[in-house]
Amino acid sequence: MRPKIIMHNTISLDGSLTNFCVNMELHYRILGTFNADAHLIGSNTAKSGLDLFLDTIPPETPKNKEPPKPQLTDIRPLWILIDSHAQMYNLLHIFRQYEFCKDVIVLITSKTPAKYSEYLTSRHYHIIRSGTQHVNLNQALEILHKHYHINTIVTDTGHTLNSILLRQGLLDEISLIINPVIVGQNQLNVFKTLSQSIQPNQLHLLKSTPLENNSIHLHYEIIKNQMDGISS
Ligand SMILES: NC(=O)c1ccc[n+]([C@@H]2O[C@H](COP(=O)([O-])OP(=O)(O)OC[C@H]3O[C@@H](n4cnc5c(N)ncnc54)[C@H](OP(=O)(O)O)[C@@H]3O)[C@@H](O)[C@H]2O)c1
Repeated sequence: MRPKIIMHNTISLDGSLTNFCVNMELHYRILGTFNADAHLIGSNTAKSGLDLFLDTIPPETPKNKEPPKPQLTDIRPLWILIDSHAQMYNLLHIFRQYEFCKDVIVLITSKTPAKYSEYLTSRHYHIIRSGTQHVNLNQALEILHKHYHINTIVTDTGHTLNSILLRQGLLDEISLIINPVIVGQNQLNVFKTLSQSIQPNQLHLLKSTPLENNSIHLHYEIIKNQMDGISS
């Protein structure tokens, strides 16, 4: 068994993930309504977030090198980072400093540089190693469910991971906040690398909610038995 995965993005009217101003407060407020056990974060998203929001990297403190003490009353989500290529080397303490993060689980592969594995183990980050060139998502998700009791995951990912999750049949729901802005030729489509199309009978609308500033929230369920017959 694997956890349910809800993809969540804020996009422009023409489907772009970037090159417009995302209302972060709204983005995370809607994301919070899913009460997910964990957030799944792509390494490019993590790295670009630091570049975007931090002028300088805060230093790692001795406390950041230790795992937080588990508390039964702590209902904050775990953050799961897919980072087989060590993009967050020497940067993960920023996640531990973030008040909304319970702790970090890093998904890596058998080919992940040893230096990164040593960095992670010396700081007691949870590690799941699966796959060779890329993380074996199916296998990692089963471990997350079995060993970490994670039932629901919400994503914080860009077009790459969105497309892979959908292609591998691992997405269960799609949540999109649509901003009334058209990016035009500089758009980066939310499923840019998806090679197949998804038809109306494969998506069931769960909710459509008008939001402030003429934005709208759309929430779809992906109909799984219809996905089986998908053509590339
Ligand atoms: N508007 C929004 O809601 C929103 C939200 C999130 C991100 N963004 C934007 O999206 C952009 C980043 O998007 P992105 O598509 O470049 O990156 P991404 O989805 O954040 O990261 C790519 C991820 O895919 C993994 N990956 C690649 N191929 C894989 C495979 N075959 N199997 C398993 N995992 C695989 C990579 O893992 P490895 O590291 O192990 O290779 C990496 O973790 C940024 O500009 C960010 O600002 C926008």
